[in-house]
Amino acid sequence: MKTLMRLVLIGIVLAVVVIAAMLWVPVQYTPAQALTEPASAITAARGEYVMRTANCMACHTADDGQPFAGGRKIESPLGIIYSTNITPDKDTGIGHYSLDEFRASLYDGLRKDGAHLYPAMPYENLRFLSEADVQAMYQYFMHEVPAVNNKVPETALKFPFNQRWGLRAWNMLVLKEVEFKPVSDDAQINRGAYLVQGPTHCGACHSPRNSLMAQDGVSADHAAFLTGGEVDGWSVPDLRGKDSVSAQWSTQQMAHYLATGRNDYATSVGEMSLVVEHSLQYLTAEDNLAIAAYLTHLTGSSEVGTLSAQSPTAPTETERLLTSADPAMSLGARLYIDNCGGCHAVDGRGAPEIFPALDGNALVTAGSPTGLIHVILHGAQLPSTELRPEALRMQGHAWRLSDEEVAELATFVRQGWHNQASGVTAGEVKPLR
Ligand code: HEC
Ligand code: HEC
Ligand code: HEC
Repeated sequence: MKTLMRLVLIGIVLAVVVIAAMLWVPVQYTPAQALTEPASAITAARGEYVMRTANCMACHTADDGQPFAGGRKIESPLGIIYSTNITPDKDTGIGHYSLDEFRASLYDGLRKDGAHLYPAMPYENLRFLSEADVQAMYQYFMHEVPAVNNKVPETALKFPFNQRWGLRAWNMLVLKEVEFKPVSDDAQINRGAYLVQGPTHCGACHSPRNSLMAQDGVSADHAAFLTGGEVDGWSVPDLRGKDSVSAQWSTQQMAHYLATGRNDYATSVGEMSLVVEHSLQYLTAEDNLAIAAYLTHLTGSSEVGTLSAQSPTAPTETERLLTSADPAMSLGARLYIDNCGGCHAVDGRGAPEIFPALDGNALVTAGSPTGLIHVILHGAQLPSTELRPEALRMQGHAWRLSDEEVAELATFVRQGWHNQASGVTAGEVKPLR
């Protein structure tokens, strides 16, 4: 009885302390940065371009919905979060937002009424936007986007996550860096750094999460920034290490991948294809090259593009095995010849801009085989872009391969050629069907 009383007391004291802390932590309104460009540089057309770089439309438009009218379901570890209507409609959209309130939503994740937005809205990164870009976007949203009256479903997470004020303390701990800081004397590298850290929010997927579920660093000052993350159980590759494609691809090849989802070595799948389709294909060639230059700069590599898709190398053990017609060939190797080799080739190098190389492929060798299993089961389709409209497709194999066969095949490609990743079990395949 005495212990119970004590526990209740401790509980009450704790609750009081937590509430006091919440009241004490002030709501953060990051002030506007100095405007460094002439007013003539701030146009709605520029705002539309910034919107593309930040991919606002993809999140704020529901399937079959009107552009920016909200209602897209965003799966988060906390539950389903609905994006909101950001058309200039006065009742259901942001028509009543002032410039300062608009900026606060991008910099501090604050709604007009002062409520905190869930970080599904990437304000951790958007807070690096320059004042000119914020103002240009404000013009675009207020004057160019048609107002749509559309009330979106309320986001209703379970307790305690439905307590939006709890985010105030989270913001205080997480939102530390305010404005974008130049990283180099080279204007191109700086532009790339600005785009990557800020609007294009690569780190939202390509950086790991820390114990607060925040991005583990939002700029290169943090060692974990862009070292790889996870989205929906898929591993998202490292963009910063010596072995990453940022160090291996030339800046031209990287820029081409960003603009089209394909280059001489690889193709995009899943979430990355959506980023290419809805955002990166609209960037100017200079901006995609700037991103590529920044990524190379990050790896510390001076020698750019050490990989050459076409240069002949000695056949690997795997290639010899696949061309040997050995009757004792493993099940995985036989499945590869029957189902995959026709396109991805026995040397595992595919064909430039059409079939991605599986040898040395980050998705194939990722810590988690989820992405690879998903592609084998359900196939994949390249995004159709202005530069490369062909939406090349790989068929799914779920209908013809059992869980055991998919596991054998996945193990084979994860360990074939130069790949050295862990094996896959049928138990890992089953839940992804
Ligand atoms: C990755 C998805 C995503 C992207 C990209 C994104 N948003 Fe959001 N945004 C959201 C979600 C989800 C919410 C609602 C969060 C909530 O209810 O707490 C939101 C909320 C908002 C709000 C608050 C509106 C209100 O009154 O509720 C504004 C304004 C906004 N976003 C503007 C933008 C702009 C402008 C861009 C592009 C620069 C953008 N968003 C990019 C997901 C996104
Ligand atoms: C919404 C999440 C998301 C965002 C935002 C995102 N990516 Fe990705 N990216 C992925 C996923 C998932 C993959 C793995 C699938 C694949 O290889 O296509 C990937 C793969 C890549 C690859 C191929 C890497 C390799 O080793 O094969 C590159 C390069 C890349 N992303 C660059 C970028 C850049 C640069 C940005 C920002 C401009 C960015 N991504 C933004 C999710 C994202
Ligand atoms: C008819 C030709 C064809 C066949 C057969 C085929 N693929 Fe593909 N594969 C493609 C194309 C095209 C893509 C690019 C699709 C995309 O990126 O959206 C692709 C993409 C992939 C990727 C994603 C690579 C990356 O970097 O994102 C993997 C992994 C893959 N295939 C493995 C396999 C395996 C394993 C098999 C055998 C079961 C197979 N493929 C059979 C054409 C094929």
